[in-house]
Amino acid sequence: MNILLLGSGGRENALAWKIKQSKKTDKLFIAPGNAGTALVGENVNISATDFPKLKEFVLANNINMVVVGPEDPLVKGVYDYFKNDEALKSVPVIGPSQKGAELEGSKDFAKAFMMRHNIPTAAYASFTKETLEDGYKFLDSLEKGPYVLKADGLAAGKGVLIINSLEEAKQELKNMLDGMFGDASATVVIEEFLDGIECSVFVLSDGDSYKILPVAKDYKRIGEGDTGPNTGGMGAVSPVSFANAEYMKKVEERIVIPTVEGLKKEGIEYKGFIFLGLIRVNNEPVVIEYNVRMGDPETEAVMLRIESDFVDLLEGVAMGNLSERELKEDPRYAVTVMLVSGGYPGDYEKGKVISGLEKVENSIVFHAGTTEKDGNIVTNGGRVIAVSSYGNTQAEALAQSFENAKKIDFEGKYYRSDIGFDL
Ligand code: AMP
Ligand code: GLY
Repeated sequence: MNILLLGSGGRENALAWKIKQSKKTDKLFIAPGNAGTALVGENVNISATDFPKLKEFVLANNINMVVVGPEDPLVKGVYDYFKNDEALKSVPVIGPSQKGAELEGSKDFAKAFMMRHNIPTAAYASFTKETLEDGYKFLDSLEKGPYVLKADGLAAGKGVLIINSLEEAKQELKNMLDGMFGDASATVVIEEFLDGIECSVFVLSDGDSYKILPVAKDYKRIGEGDTGPNTGGMGAVSPVSFANAEYMKKVEERIVIPTVEGLKKEGIEYKGFIFLGLIRVNNEPVVIEYNVRMGDPETEAVMLRIESDFVDLLEGVAMGNLSERELKEDPRYAVTVMLVSGGYPGDYEKGKVISGLEKVENSIVFHAGTTEKDGNIVTNGGRVIAVSSYGNTQAEALAQSFENAKKIDFEGKYYRSDIGFDL
């Protein structure tokens, strides 16, 4: 079949790589893609949120399935756009309906959903400008900090503040409600602070049954030892040692099943990925957040660990018979190490020529922020290249990625050499 993948990051390069391996894939297009996806399929110069242009392309190129990488098109309703269009409704979109995408698009909706279905999550309350005084009182009522303030809407991964001082938390609550993150912080969720180690669980669902994909852990901070500001993600490992069979059984029973059942009960169409951001508190899994897509950079490790034909699984989602499809995991470890631009996540320059890609051996290179210019591959974002590797141990896989990370070069290149340090 002909597949159109939406997005342009390292996640999409990894998805494209895996989709391309399937016997079921004829043509693979990526809109808009990057210099790495151009090596696996054909890039199409259409934004992932330009639905009318996507429609034209899908019809002109006999696309049989659309796979959505990032959250933006989902939150903007790409699933419903296809479903409600006479010409497009026979083309399945892998991703939730707009209502389902609220699990990521609105923290307030996600928290209320978890409450309704008894899914373990941090205690919370939500506030708007009109209830600012109640927000102050709520902060006063919390025994101690840190205080967790979350913009309700999408804020490019920056909408969560964790603050130690009560006075500062009150000030930031007001700033957020005054528009610090635009409309995204018109409602603010205040949450109980949870202390523990996190992991990312990915569930693929056809709206009825589900498969749990290999579990991963990402490393968000820029600095070694998990210090400094948050980034889009500096690396990832899979599997995750503490997410053992006993832990995953709890995750499945207390979180995965109630989530899939809850969506079904509420009549929310969901044929796509559910990303559970989990934290372990007293050896119990608690949900920090839902996302409605795969994680980045987790996907750059997780795709290596799926042995089965991925398109066969996606087809199962589209056709509603996922339970009849096989998910086979590769038993090896897989890791990814992200090479980023100097200065990231603050200001950084783009357009630096990337060299040494041809020297890479025994790793898989996924492009994140790259583009082609005058015959060169140049940097085009903060996160530039993901170097993914297999190993019989985590250490072996990491050593392989680090060796290749040294061979690739561009001005200002930086990477964390302690990915997986805490496991
Ligand atoms: P989110 O965007 O909801 O994933 O939050 C970003 C990060 O903030 C998470 O990955 C956690 O590390 C941290 N975080 C979010 N909520 C909490 C919480 N209730 N307690 C402690 N840390 C949190
Ligand atoms: N790696 C976390 C995310 O994709 O949101």
